[in-house]
Amino acid sequence: MIESAVVPVAGLGTRLLPATKSQPKEMLPVARKPIVQYVVEELVSNGVRQILFVTGRNKTSIEDHFDNDPELFRALAEANKDDLIEELDFEAMKANFFYTRQRRQQGLGDAVLHAESFAGEKPFVVALGDSILGLNALSRAVARMADVFDSGRASCVIAVEEVPPQETRHYGIVQPAGTAADVFRIANLVEKPAPESAPSNLAIAGRYIFSPVIFDMIRRVQPDRRGEIQLTDAIQFMCEEGRRVIAVKLPPAEKRYDIGNFPSYFESFVEFALADPAYGEGFRRALERILAKAPAAG
Ligand code: G1P
Repeated sequence: MIESAVVPVAGLGTRLLPATKSQPKEMLPVARKPIVQYVVEELVSNGVRQILFVTGRNKTSIEDHFDNDPELFRALAEANKDDLIEELDFEAMKANFFYTRQRRQQGLGDAVLHAESFAGEKPFVVALGDSILGLNALSRAVARMADVFDSGRASCVIAVEEVPPQETRHYGIVQPAGTAADVFRIANLVEKPAPESAPSNLAIAGRYIFSPVIFDMIRRVQPDRRGEIQLTDAIQFMCEEGRRVIAVKLPPAEKRYDIGNFPSYFESFVEFALADPAYGEGFRRALERILAKAPAAG
C-alpha cells in the first residue's frame, strides 16, 4: 500500500478560458462534484491517506473545498436539510491534506520536485488534478499500480491508455520494451510527439507511482523551449539508467476523463450527468429532445 500522493494543481488552465480565469480548472464541476473531489475520493479509496496539493495563484478554493465549514453545516442543520448535510460527508474523509505553492510556472517536473520533503524515503503517487479515472472515479488502477510497483521492483509505474494517432501531440507517449500487454516494461518516453515520430499510441494517463529517486532525475532535466521542466524527461533518465519503468494499461471501464480541454470536458460532464442516480434519466430525456430538434451535423 502506498499512502502518500501528490496532486499537482498549479497549471493556469489556459485551454479552458474564460471558465478558468478566476477559478482553478480542478474546481470545475463534472455533474455534481468538482473534478478534484473525484480525484481525492479515488486516491482515498485506493488506500492513500496523505495528500499534498502543489498549488499556485488563484487556487485557494481547492483548500476551502476540503475544509470543514461549520457555518454552512449549522445553517443546513437549522433548516433540517439532512439530505444536503449528507453532501458534505466528504469533509470527513480519512485523509490529511497538505498544500505547497509552486511560485513559478516551470512545468510538471518542477511541481513534483516540490514534494521532495513530503515524500521522504517512501514511494508516492502522482495524480494529475485534471484527470478522473473511471465513471464516478470508481477505479482501482492506483492500487493495482502499487502492486506492480512492489512485485516488479520498479522505480516508476505509469498508467497508460490508447489514444487516436492524431492525438499523440497532446500527451507523453511511451515506447514499450517488448509487446504491450496489460502490464509492460517501458523502453523510452517522449513528451508530446507529432504522430509521425510517436513511438506508439500509448499515452501517459495522469497517474504515476515513483520511488524518491525521481527527484534526482528531475534535477538533471534541462528546461524545454517554454522553460518547463518535463516530468516525462525525468522518467526517460530512469529508463536510460536501466531502472525498471513499467506501464499499466487502463481498461475501458477505468478510462481517463481528461478535463484539460473543452471537447473532453463537455463529454465527461454529459456522461457523468447521464449516470446520475437521481437526475440521469430525466437528463437523458432532455438530451434526446434537444438532439431531435438539432439539425443533423454536416
Ligand atoms: C501532462 C504530461 C503528459 C501527460 C499528460 C496527461 O501534460 O506532461 O506526459 O500525458 O499530462 O494529461 P499536460 O496535460 O500537463 O500538458
